[in-house]
Amino acid sequence: MNPTDIHLLRAFLAAGDAFVSGSVLAEEVGLTRVAIWARLEKLRENGFVFEAVRNRGYRLLKTPSHLDGRLVAAHLALTGAERTLHFHPSIDSTNSEAERLLATSGTAPFVVAAAGQTKGRGRLGRVWHSPAEGNLYASFAFRPRIAHRRIATITLWMGAGLCDYLERAWGVPVQVKWPNDLLIQGRKVAGILTEARIDADLTRELVIGIGLNIQGNTAAWPAEASRVATTLTEHASAPLPVNAVAAGFIETVFQLYEAFIAETHREAFPMLWKKYDALAGKTIRASMNGRELSGEAAGIDGDGALLLQATDGQTHRLHSGEVTIGSGR
Ligand code: BTN
Repeated sequence: MNPTDIHLLRAFLAAGDAFVSGSVLAEEVGLTRVAIWARLEKLRENGFVFEAVRNRGYRLLKTPSHLDGRLVAAHLALTGAERTLHFHPSIDSTNSEAERLLATSGTAPFVVAAAGQTKGRGRLGRVWHSPAEGNLYASFAFRPRIAHRRIATITLWMGAGLCDYLERAWGVPVQVKWPNDLLIQGRKVAGILTEARIDADLTRELVIGIGLNIQGNTAAWPAEASRVATTLTEHASAPLPVNAVAAGFIETVFQLYEAFIAETHREAFPMLWKKYDALAGKTIRASMNGRELSGEAAGIDGDGALLLQATDGQTHRLHSGEVTIGSGR
């Protein structure tokens, strides 16, 4: 990604509706005014619309409806937090790329984000349908050195915290379905794939991969994905600025991770889980050690296990697996 483009876009975002002088921009990035004009022409080819007025400068009128790495980086830069973003218009899987980068370099944390994936992976060996339609595919890489058993709760904490971000920032009513799905009105809007390398019970490398359906025509997706999926846009009151949503989402993941590691999330976690729990009080089915269980979902325990109050009167703790809503009868 061209750092000049990121700098220019950051300046336009900071200015909002105001004009930014071409000579101020030129001085800031150390280029001529003609060179600035040329860079803006290139950005125009990529879906950016600028208004140019003599003696006032330029202002940004429209941003692309696809994911643009430079714009995501510019939004992130505006928050003041310095995050390392590796952006790809298309890649096999951002989780695979994050794992490759962790294996070859010492630096973490970072995020690998892509506009599209050719081999997007879901949980339980499933495919994550990843068209380049203005969705976010992102994998966050960390070297946390935390006990292996805390990994389950970090995924749950991310899920609840991201519901909170999406509702507060964009007014979309998202819920978290244990253990790793984000739902809107029962349909999947995001999924989390957490992968870790564990050594002597310590998590050395952690990759949290998240696919967020921001927009796109889910009706045209392959039948299996189309049947269960939805997008944020389908439930938003106005069109969403894809790149601002993605940048806010990315920054939220980093902040959630930092709170988890510092253990400052302990008070908020149960409250957020209760607020956004898609299963609470619902009749559910699950399988545990090969046994089919059915009963009422009753929240999670301190280890992140799902509590299931079974029809046999017992409370079961589920540490992993898949849950179906409904009695199935
Ligand atoms: C699931 O619900 O099964 C989890 C889906 C996780 C998909 C994301 S998209 C970004 C990252 N890269 C991948 O290949 N998978 C995760």
